[in-house]
Amino acid sequence: MITLGIETSCDETSIAVVRDDAVILSNIILSQIIHKGFGGVVPELASREHLKSIIPVYEQALAIAGITKEDIDLVAATFGPGLVGALLVGLNFGRGLAFGNDIPFIAVNHLEGHMAANILANKDLPQKYLTLIISGGHTSLVLVDGFGHYKILGQTKDDAVGEAYDKIAKVLGLGYPGGAEIDRLAKTGNRDYFHFPRGIMREDSYNFSYSGLKTAVALHIKGLSEKELVNHTADIAASFQEAAVEVLVNKTVRAADEFGVMAVTLSGGVASNSRLKELMNKRLLGMGVKFYFPPPELCTDNGAMIAVAGYLRYKLDGPSLMPINAVPNLRLTSS
Ligand code: KG4
Ligand code: ZN
Repeated sequence: MITLGIETSCDETSIAVVRDDAVILSNIILSQIIHKGFGGVVPELASREHLKSIIPVYEQALAIAGITKEDIDLVAATFGPGLVGALLVGLNFGRGLAFGNDIPFIAVNHLEGHMAANILANKDLPQKYLTLIISGGHTSLVLVDGFGHYKILGQTKDDAVGEAYDKIAKVLGLGYPGGAEIDRLAKTGNRDYFHFPRGIMREDSYNFSYSGLKTAVALHIKGLSEKELVNHTADIAASFQEAAVEVLVNKTVRAADEFGVMAVTLSGGVASNSRLKELMNKRLLGMGVKFYFPPPELCTDNGAMIAVAGYLRYKLDGPSLMPINAVPNLRLTSS
């Protein structure tokens, strides 16, 4: 089955062609650079950029896959969570295409999409595993028992981990989005330069909190002279990162032990983080638990993960009934 996956929930216009849940024929990802000067995504600009790009991205996705629109069996598009105007561009384009071609349409939860990137990337993924969904908007620890069967163990009570990365990158003058930049800079810094608060919450809770860490780092930076800041930018990045990832690793490892899972996966933009992968790998190896993560192009927002989640949802539930609306605050629920 050939699925066209469409993703426009934030600032990536992405369309992919995927065979079943296994083979990527094309995965075009256009990251909007217009937001860079604003230090964050400007929703109205995001919608307009999606409108400009969606048809060229679609045409490129078909050309690279070597197919025509008649070859598409199913159209999948993200319907939430995300920016409402941005979501509507991809959703309406996908619905129109499916209607015009007389083929089924499936609306996809962006978070289920991020998780599905692991199915695409790791053919030996077992049925039961634990996944951390970590992105600019989400921090959730989820126990998975086959596609579509989830138990939400914990989530952030305030800021998402990616949001904290972006905020700290901004105060360090590293531009937006800054997660990858902090990751890169931290490699040259001293992780023990400063011990920032870990935001552990209750010991037995799997929930997360990042606003305290974000504020502590911002206050620390405020107290430095310009010269001190220049001298310690990499150290602050490394110390912040250590605090941010330590909590993710500790809670995931504890849950893996409590629920007796044999595999852990990372999903979402922050899943590209090198220090997180290093620490998680070390801890899980010691427990005999397998560790999986998608390659960077499947961690960031992309159409291929939406195609796979759409294909698997369609097999479970059949097509989405039209009309379906965008749901900006859509959640992943236990099911
Ligand atoms: O999943 P994603 O592309 O979009 C959302 O659904 O939010 O995630 C984007 C987030 C941004 O906050 C970005 O700074 C962060 O992922 N990110 C990283 C890294 N690469 C991207 N954070 C830490 N380390 C990275 N290497
Ligand atoms: Zn995302």
